[in-house]
Amino acid sequence: MTARPLSNARILLIVGGGVAAYKSLELIRRLRERGVVTRVVMTEAAKRFVAPLSFAALSGHAVRFDPFSLIDEAEMGHIELSREADLVVVAPATADLLARMAQGLANDLASTTLLATDKRVLAAPAMNLRMWLHPATRRNVAALRADGVAFVGPDEGEMACGEFGPGRMAEPLAIVAAIERALEAPTAIPLPPGVGARPEGALAGLRVVVTSGPTYEPIDPVRFLGNRSSGLQGHAIAEAAGAAGARATLISGPVGLADPAGVDVVHVETARQMHAAALAALPADVFIAAAAVGDWRVEAVGAQKLKKGTAGAPVLSLVENPDILADVATRRTGRPALVIGFAAETERVVENARDKLKRKGCDLIVANSVAESEGTFGGLDNQVTIVSAAGAEPWPRMSKQEVARGLIELIARTMKGQK
Ligand code: CTP
Repeated sequence: MTARPLSNARILLIVGGGVAAYKSLELIRRLRERGVVTRVVMTEAAKRFVAPLSFAALSGHAVRFDPFSLIDEAEMGHIELSREADLVVVAPATADLLARMAQGLANDLASTTLLATDKRVLAAPAMNLRMWLHPATRRNVAALRADGVAFVGPDEGEMACGEFGPGRMAEPLAIVAAIERALEAPTAIPLPPGVGARPEGALAGLRVVVTSGPTYEPIDPVRFLGNRSSGLQGHAIAEAAGAAGARATLISGPVGLADPAGVDVVHVETARQMHAAALAALPADVFIAAAAVGDWRVEAVGAQKLKKGTAGAPVLSLVENPDILADVATRRTGRPALVIGFAAETERVVENARDKLKRKGCDLIVANSVAESEGTFGGLDNQVTIVSAAGAEPWPRMSKQEVARGLIELIARTMKGQK
């Protein structure tokens, strides 16, 4: 944690409507002496106590109060206004302004700015002592403290209304000291991962869904029909899509791999579960079917473990599973702009891939040989051929991560061409 020097700090000062507003002029002067740049937002009520021109003259910037002012918004939008400061200071923080802050209202520029800021807020309350001591104000202050708002004051003393007690705004120099302390803590309040600034990358702003791994089709509670897919290629593609700025969803069959970072992962076992998860993940811009989906499932899954008996070996009757790739590629509405399938072939790789491209209605097929001699299933390398209506392009043998990055580049180029 590094302390921010007061000089060159940028403060956004929100002036509420109270008699103490004049003291905020003094606050700006004190801050200016210390090299602090202050921009001012006033509430409508504040303008009744001190002329905006006084604040403009002292701060050296136009004073803002209208969230709908086109001229002001063109110069600096209200979101930017709330973000470019290092700290937001509310002085005087009236009972009304504190109540609106506690409720999260955004009904004028001051409250909108306070709701939109990603910076810490320091409030210097000022109000009649009964208003300060009222249970409603107590509640609001407690809620704001719990939200991380810092407070300075109020002081005790003679009030403008003639009463004596707590409610006077802290003196400008005390507020300066509180600002200095507040600037020592980190001022940017982080957002949860995955939201905020749009990530930059070749697939920024696109939704990508990837299926990966094998499916397990149960025979009975302990046995299943599966295949040798490791999920390495599909997982690498999902991870590369996430790294390229896409919002990626990986629908993974049972694999021995960790969930890739930066990707939403849905775990499934059977082809039917994968089918349902894939449809639920739509709409998407790009769909990549890298999973080795079991083509068949056992028609009648035993509720109990099958036992050896006198009747001999059991005969399994199989039924076909839904074709996830074909279903996504042939959707009438909401078809992803780019649908990519894989073809795991043991012979005549390109011919079979061409046939599959047509049969499944997808835009590209990544064909690879899974003949045992190639070691593709479970191996770290892959040699693929990209088959489209335009032709077949063999890629050299490379790692599955490199294939994934190559595919992401190809997808980025194709999607750009479609815009
Ligand atoms: N696929 C799918 N759903 C299925 C079967 C396959 O989404 N039920 C997808 C795979 O993820 C892959 C592509 O379809 O992207 C091709 O899979 P493959 O098993 O090679 O093809 P099959 O449809 O089984 O055709 P064939 O029997 O000719 O090998």
